[in-house]
Order: sequence, then structure tokens, then C-alpha cells
Amino acid sequence: MSDLSGKKIVLGISGGIAAYKTASLVRLLIKAGAEVQVIMTPASHQFVTSFTLSTLSKKPVYTDFFNSSQATSTWNNHVEMALWADLLLIAPATANTLSKMVSGAADNLLLAIYLSAKCPVYVAPAMDLDMYVHPSTLRNLKVLETYQNIVIPAEKGELASGLVGEGRMAEPENILAFLRQSLAETKPLKGKKILITAGPTYEAIDPVRFIGNHSSGKMGFDTALAAAQQGAAVILVSGPTQQHIEHPLVTTISVFSAQEMYEVCHSHFEDCDVFIGAAAVADYRPKTVATQKIKKSADDFVIELEKNPDILASLGAIKKQQFLIGFALETENEIENAQLKIRKKNLDLIVLNSLNDAGAGFGVPTNKVTFIDREFHIEPLELKSKEAVAMDIVNKIKEHYA
Ligand code: CTP
Repeated sequence: MSDLSGKKIVLGISGGIAAYKTASLVRLLIKAGAEVQVIMTPASHQFVTSFTLSTLSKKPVYTDFFNSSQATSTWNNHVEMALWADLLLIAPATANTLSKMVSGAADNLLLAIYLSAKCPVYVAPAMDLDMYVHPSTLRNLKVLETYQNIVIPAEKGELASGLVGEGRMAEPENILAFLRQSLAETKPLKGKKILITAGPTYEAIDPVRFIGNHSSGKMGFDTALAAAQQGAAVILVSGPTQQHIEHPLVTTISVFSAQEMYEVCHSHFEDCDVFIGAAAVADYRPKTVATQKIKKSADDFVIELEKNPDILASLGAIKKQQFLIGFALETENEIENAQLKIRKKNLDLIVLNSLNDAGAGFGVPTNKVTFIDREFHIEPLELKSKEAVAMDIVNKIKEHYA
């Protein structure tokens, strides 16, 4: 999963030697979760084949306004393609293409798409060093910035001519990092720190046994990803789960027991803006943990339990600026019990799951929740995927800061 997931990118390739690197660029963008539509200028076909790019992007590659070779001639609608895109990336952008972008020429499909685009436009210039530092190129790049286009600076190094200097297209990895950084800067939760608990906790009985529960951790992990995709820096404190998250804005801290989760949460709480308690924390733990494996002997075996700290309530008691979100899993008197928890734990919002609703709770990919806020406004949501519920929770956070 990644922050480019679901992003529709039109990748425009113009005719420079760096076009050969676009094969890796397409792969990286797709691996990062984007959908990529490649548009090639006629000259770029000298440097990379459309077969390579269509195979990697799993889409036809377009160059011309018309598909005249087909029995039924069709038109490649540049306006539709431009409006489809969430982002237009022109890489490599040659001196010739940059100059046409500045002047408004539309003598190929890529330029027509550029002129029709309403989405953010990124250009990654690539040319020989003398061309790159020529006043006309420098001026063109400045003019494109006044059009709100974003320039991904060329890099220094050995050029195809054998000369060494500035003008090399940024490496595909660096283009991806640039896009990620740039997209994060415009995100609504940028600068917010969110602490999230997820998964079950395991309470040790002896070195090989524990008391646990069926929480998969999915709800907490989906929420962490949704928050990071909106630009928040997330610390995800997770009990043992099979879930995995890879996102530059998410730091995962693995814990085992409720006590460990409590300590990690308290050490990160002070400077966080939002806390979300999505973990299914064990309410009780064995009073003593045997140091050796307990041997089977008597017919009955009793484990004495003691209460775990309530992480959410302990944070509610000391909260200052933090927006506190808790979950409640109830089987009866759901609304009343959830409202009691809001007061008892000093919450701003509770996400109520009722086990009476089909498709809600542990081990299923869906959830049916009701939001209740501090003023006891009740907002029941329909049954949806846990990813969609995660997005709804993140939208509540955005509303709070709006
Ligand atoms: N929670 C917590 N620490 C605990 C127990 C619960 O942080 N020791 C958090 C959960 O992560 C969840 C919320 O408190 O966000 C409510 O959990 P829930 O199990 O529904 O409620 P409990 O407070 O444990 O009360 P009960 O089990 O009696 O319903």
C-alpha cells in the first residue's frame, strides 16, 4: 500500500535519451499504487518502445490524435485524458517540449493534453548541460512555474554526450520521492501527529502461553494508512498481528502486552494531536507469570487475573490539545454504553460497533459503525469495508481541524 494508491497519472514522455529510464519509472509508479497512462511524443519512440511501456503500464500507449490504422478510425480524446488525470508528469521534458509548453503549441497529443489539464503538472527536464543552462531553457522553466507547473530539478552527472554536468533527468526513484513529498505538502493532515493502537494484546501466562483475543488489527492498520495518506505522521502501536504497513509517514511499534502498549502510548502522547484507540486491549492479565512452562497436574487449574490499565481512559485523564477517539464494542444497550464510555474516558468521538450487526466486528473485512461525539450527536453509518470506515474516521479528524 502506498500514498500514490489510486492516483491516476498521465506520464508524458518526450524525445530525449532519458526516455529509456521511463520503463523503471512506470514500474515504480505502479508499485506505489498509481494507475499510469503513458503518452509518447513521436520523437520519444526513437528511445524507448511503446510495447515496453504498454506492457508495464498494462494500458495502450497513445501518441497520435487519431488511430487511423484501425478499421474503425477512432480519436484519442485529449480532453478526456487530461480530465481523467489526478496528476500529469512529463518526464523526460526536453528543451523542445518545454518551449512548446510555454508557448501553447499543440502539435502533438501530449501537448494537447497538457493544455487541457486541470490537475497538477510536474516536469522533469532532461537535456545536455549547455542546453540546460541556456537562457531560453532557464526562462522557460521559470515561465512554467508561473503557470503553477512544478519542476523536478535535473540532476548532475555524466550525460549521454559524455559531458559531465547538470541536465540529467532526475532518477526514477528521486522523481517518485519528489512526487510523494510534494503531494504530502498539499495534504489536509500535514503536520498532524496521530497515535493509533491496533490489534490484540497478549497477556502471558508462562513462557509459552498467553491470553489473547481474535482482533486482526485491520481496523487500526487501515486507519493508520488512511491518516498517512492524508499527510499525517502516524505512530502505530500494534499488538501481535499479521497486518503489515509500508508508508513513509507510518512508524510501527510492536508490543505484546497491554502494559507495554500503555507505556509506549504514554511516551508518545504528549506531542501528538490525535489519539485513536483501535486496539482490543485485554482488560485483565494473569496476576503472576510463571517463569517456567506450567506442567499439567491437577484436573482443575485456576489463573488469577488482575486488571490491566485502561490506556484510553488514562490518556483521557491527562489530555490537553489532543483529539481522542475510542472504539466501543457492545452487545446490548449499545448507545447508552458508548455514551457512558465517552464521559468515563473523556473522549471526543467514539466509534461504536455492535456485534448485533451482521458484517461488523472481528475477523471480517467490513464494519458497521455509529459515530457518537461529545455532545452525543449520533451518526449511524451503513455497512462498508474497513478501509471505507477508516476514511470516515479520518474525515472526522479533518472536520475537527477544518
Ligand atoms: N481500551 C484501552 N485500554 C483498555 C481497554 C480498552 O485503551 N485496557 C480502549 C479500546 O482500545 C477502545 C476502548 O477503550 O478504544 C473501549 O474498549 P471496550 O473493550 O469496548 O471497552 P472497555 O473499556 O474495555 O469496557 P467493557 O469491556 O467493559 O465494555
